[in-house]
This record gives sequence, C-alpha cells and structure tokens, in this order.
Amino acid sequence: MTSDTSPGTSAPDSAAPLVSLKNVNKHFGDLHVLQNINLDIARGEVVVVIGPSGSGKSTLCRAINRLETIDDGEITVDGAVLPAEGKALAKLRADVGMVFQSFNLFAHKSIVDNVALGPVKVRKSKPAEAKKLAMELLERVGVANQANKLPAQLSGGQQQRVAIARALAMKPKVMLFDEPTSALDPEMINEVLDTMVGLAKEGMTMVVVTHEMGFARKAADRVIFMADGQIVEEATPEEFFNHPKSDRAKDFLGKILSH
Ligand SMILES: Nc1ncnc2c1ncn2[C@@H]1O[C@H](COP(=O)(O)OP(=O)(O)OP(=O)(O)O)[C@@H](O)[C@H]1O
Ligand SMILES: [Mg+2]
Repeated sequence: MTSDTSPGTSAPDSAAPLVSLKNVNKHFGDLHVLQNINLDIARGEVVVVIGPSGSGKSTLCRAINRLETIDDGEITVDGAVLPAEGKALAKLRADVGMVFQSFNLFAHKSIVDNVALGPVKVRKSKPAEAKKLAMELLERVGVANQANKLPAQLSGGQQQRVAIARALAMKPKVMLFDEPTSALDPEMINEVLDTMVGLAKEGMTMVVVTHEMGFARKAADRVIFMADGQIVEEATPEEFFNHPKSDRAKDFLGKILSH
C-alpha cells in the first residue's frame, strides 16, 4: 500500500524512491539474466513480481540485498549505493529484510532466540531488549505461544511467520519475499499471506515474488511481469490480471489461472 500517513518521516528525500535500480545488468556466463532493469520502488509501495520460471525474479531480489553482484548499472536503497562488502554491507543487509521459500531458521536455537539473534549481533541491541522485541514480533505474527520451542516443532506456516518476525526484528526499510508460500501445504498458505497483508497495510515497503493472485489483488500497488530477464509489463493488479497487454503475460496468466 502506498502510505502517505507517516508524519514522522519528514526527511527531505522522503519522496525519492526507497529502492532504485538503474540500467542493471547481470550475466551468469552466457545467460543475460537481468537485462537493463529499471525499477523504482516508492516508500510504502508493495510490488508483486510475477513471471515464468527462470525469468530472473529471484536474481532480482538477491541483487537488491547483494546476495548477487551485478555486472553494471546501479542499485540504491534509501539513496545509498549498494556497498560492496564489509560493515556497510552488513548494515545494508539489515535494512533489507529477506524471506525465502525455505525458512532457514537455526535448528538448534529456540524460536525467540532465532528472532533475537540478528538485533544482538548486527544492531548491537542488548539481549534483554532484543528478546522483548522478539516476543512482540512473535505476538504480531501470531506465534508467541511457540517462543520456547525449536523450529522443527512448528508447522511450516508457523516457521515461515517466525522467519518474517526474524526479518522484521532488524527494523528493515524494505522487505523482500521470494515465493514465501510455495513450500507450504495449502492450509498454511493463508496464515502467511495474511501476515504479509497486515504488513503491507502497516505501510511496509515490500517486493514480493509470488504467484498468489489473491495476495496481489489484495495488497499490491503494482504488478511487475518479468520474462527472460526483462520487465515486460507493469500495471496495477486489476489492469494486469484483467487486461494483460503482452502475449507473454497473456500466455503466462493462461497457464497459471487454468489450474
Ligand atoms: N548461481 C547461478 N549460476 C548460474 N545460473 C544461475 C544461477 N542462479 C540462477 N541462474 C539462472 O538464471 C536464470 C534466472 O534464475 P532465477 O532464479 O532468478 O529465476 P526465477 O525467475 O526466480 O525462477 P523460479 O520461478 O524458478 O524461481 C535461470 O535460468 C537460472 O537457471
Ligand atoms: Mg525464483
């Protein structure tokens, strides 16, 4: 949701995009996986990225928090060019929360410790404060009653909500989600999507790779359709789902909507 309801943010650049990609190119060997990508994401905007397998959606997300380097072009987060390495990169990673298909929780740490760890290590929070924040976030995603269990004792949907809480604990400026529900059993998908819709309503800036149309319709300000490393189409969810323009998008929607 585009939010114009944040009175505290009167920084002079608050109208500038929060995330900006300019002429971004990336190759894997001969494969031109990101082809001259230009994309601005406004503060509070929710962008859903959709497209066929191999179109570059994950690479785009991973480039935004520099899990992947880019060959040329520029990516800025809140006006700062992505640092190459070191402390500045750790800080950037903390500003950009990421939730993957696999939850990647620490198996031998309790749920609350999983969430509290990042703030202590990266943000230098006091352990007691980090734990308090972790409990608040677990409450918010609806799993506070699981705080002292180990990840394996939770359902997939619960673990994914913990992964969201863990990312939020770093107080990120933007959250990236890469197919967060595609590894979940159907009955657990909605509990994760509901958490994400809540986050969107609160004004979080989000980039979400998903094929969940319901989520896109409910929460997205903009849908981006990628194919072969390019942004082929961008539109509001209504426009995109009801009146896709390109043959690629029509073909893709035909396939995913028919099953
Ligand atoms: N580390 C890598 N080395 C070589 N090729 C890669 C690497 N990562 C991704 N690719 C290739 O880059 C292309 C884009 O991959 P990417 O994972 O970004 O696609 P995607 O749109 O996320 O696909 P999916 O919907 O299947 O998740 C694919 O052809 C993939 O095989
Ligand atoms: Mg992917």
